[in-house]
Amino acid sequence: MPDKNQSYKKFSYDAHARTCAPDDFLGQTRRTVQGVPVSEDQIQMIIAAIKSGLELAPADVLLELACGNGYLSRLLFGYCQDYLGTDISEYLVSVAKKNFEALPHYQFLMSGATEYINLEPRPERFTKVLCYAGFQYFPDEQAYGILKAIFERFRNVRTIFIGNIPDRDRAANFYKTGLPSEEELSDSNTSIGIWRSMAGVERLAVGAGWQVQFSFMPAEFNGSHYRYDALLRR
Ligand SMILES: C[S@@+](CC[C@H](N)C(=O)[O-])C[C@H]1O[C@@H](n2cnc3c(N)ncnc32)[C@H](O)[C@@H]1O
Repeated sequence: MPDKNQSYKKFSYDAHARTCAPDDFLGQTRRTVQGVPVSEDQIQMIIAAIKSGLELAPADVLLELACGNGYLSRLLFGYCQDYLGTDISEYLVSVAKKNFEALPHYQFLMSGATEYINLEPRPERFTKVLCYAGFQYFPDEQAYGILKAIFERFRNVRTIFIGNIPDRDRAANFYKTGLPSEEELSDSNTSIGIWRSMAGVERLAVGAGWQVQFSFMPAEFNGSHYRYDALLRR
């Protein structure tokens, strides 16, 4: 039931993706600008940032949290030995399985990030973790729990790449006519998710045991003026 006092819209990727054409992969994950899918250059910039941040190598076993429909993930398959993508959306995972899964090495699984991280029976097989445009949908307590459980259970994971984080300190670059309420900026159930400052992400990551380094996409990347990436190392 919609909350009558709610002054802003809640958002579900699963519900949204079901309204898109089955092959509108960029629309399903809202990788669009004013409704138009982003260009191939933008996708290639994302892939380059992930590969270089994670220093992906042929022997790596990559885990992705909040992988969506796998449209970006498939571009990483050639750079790692094995890959598992997990996402909470039943529909987006079904799209990923149908179009991009390549068993036995490149697999998708429907699971919420917290549940998956705590229940994976063989966590030690993974060497690197990716969460692109997904971390902002984890409330603080979940985000902290996920980072801590990776640190403790996924003992061979050396690095985590967290990409496309909405920057609380630069939210005014996006909301040019005035900022929404603090409540909206801190709500994981909006289309953009939680706006976090680098200091906020650092607190979560360092508290969970990780060292953090921040980076920015090139100026030609749409969103570079209000988003950043974080690389976590042991
Ligand atoms: C903007 S999409 C990004 C998808 C993909 N990483 C990409 O960059 O194309 C955000 C994704 O986060 C997923 N998500 C949201 N909350 C989640 C949770 N608690 N656990 C796992 N996935 C979640 C959504 O289902 C959606 O697929």
